[in-house]
Amino acid sequence: MRTVKVLLGSRSYPIYIGEKILSGLGGHCAQLQPGRRCAIISDRHVAPLYAKAAAASLRRAGFEPALIVVPAGEKSKSLRMVQNCCDQLARHRLERKSFVVALGGGVVGDLAGFVAASYLRGIAFVQAPTTLLSQVDSSVGGKVGVNLAAGKNLVGAFYQPRFVLCDLATLRTLPLREFRAGLAEVIKYGIIYDAALFMRLERDLPRLLSRDPEVLAAVVARCCEIKAEVVRQDETETGLRAILNFGHTIGHALEAVSGYGRYLHGEAIAIGQVAAARLSVRASGLPAQEAGRIEKLFLRAGLPAAVKVSPRRQSALIEAMRLDKKVSDGEIKFVLARRIGQVEPGHKVAAPWIQQVLAAGVPAQPHPA
Ligand SMILES: NC(=O)c1ccc[n+]([C@@H]2O[C@H](COP(=O)([O-])OP(=O)(O)OC[C@H]3O[C@@H](n4cnc5c(N)ncnc54)[C@H](O)[C@@H]3O)[C@@H](O)[C@H]2O)c1
Ligand SMILES: [Zn+2]
Repeated sequence: MRTVKVLLGSRSYPIYIGEKILSGLGGHCAQLQPGRRCAIISDRHVAPLYAKAAAASLRRAGFEPALIVVPAGEKSKSLRMVQNCCDQLARHRLERKSFVVALGGGVVGDLAGFVAASYLRGIAFVQAPTTLLSQVDSSVGGKVGVNLAAGKNLVGAFYQPRFVLCDLATLRTLPLREFRAGLAEVIKYGIIYDAALFMRLERDLPRLLSRDPEVLAAVVARCCEIKAEVVRQDETETGLRAILNFGHTIGHALEAVSGYGRYLHGEAIAIGQVAAARLSVRASGLPAQEAGRIEKLFLRAGLPAAVKVSPRRQSALIEAMRLDKKVSDGEIKFVLARRIGQVEPGHKVAAPWIQQVLAAGVPAQPHPA
């Protein structure tokens, strides 16, 4: 098992990464010395696969877990579901010393974390992420929350978990499309922070796609280290943390205008990152050859690298970028790359350039690794 530390003073916590470590959940919880009552929040896909093992581990450690299962999918990130979960916590008489285990992907993690942050003004919570995206991204860093009709993640909190437990064995049941979507965030860490990781991905992609435990362990751990380091330096996103949004300005807009659901988040940000790389060639000195490597890696990972956007939808996309909550004073700012492994936030990019990149269209179909 590998351990990565997120250093945030009194709110520091470990990320445990390894194969078949879900059975150790109860033991790690016991170290926190909480009360006996706790709740596992999971979804309808994940609960039948892993809730039994998680509950058994908690019982072995002396806890009394209640199981709360929500429908799978983004719709569960709602205030209605927060209320539903809190009602169930109250029914099971969870108290100040009780804790919540988020067992599932980013949807469950964001929802359960916000429930834990709100119930009784905050009880402890732990993350047991079961998707690649949640293991390398959403479970680390303490952003929790739900969606409003007006947009994604508009209600939430910064609320750190007490530990994160990434059982790599759970990734074996993850549908291929979801696994690939997680790879989009993995590749992002290479582009924004670590050229050696990017090269490793170029080399080991086939082994990663076959979910080789050794490669997975090394790659997930490295991504968690990078996220932990960025969060340590800027927990509440006043500066550096913005680099994690590479590819997300266009990606989020694409998700919004195509009516959440057409693209998985990872697919939308794959397109967004390739577009950001092309903008970077023009605006921040990224060598064209490196933009080419970026595009190729996404395609090899089976992710889309571009969409052809009609002029009418281009305006809708640009409008959606202006509405993004990360926009200040209506100005669209991009995280752009100087080289693979080095990016800078806060680049203003003129709308016609964005339009040109979007109009450049589909370079190729995803091809096998
Ligand atoms: N808090 C953050 O910092 C942060 C960062 C990135 C994304 N997010 C959020 O994360 C969410 C997306 O997370 P996600 O991609 O994990 O999606 P998800 O939670 O919807 O999971 C994807 C699908 O896989 C299923 N699943 C999960 N684990 C499985 C397993 N081991 N085996 C089989 N099926 C499994 C789920 O039931 C679901 O159907 C979005 O809501 C996004 O806003 C949050
Ligand atoms: Zn993302």
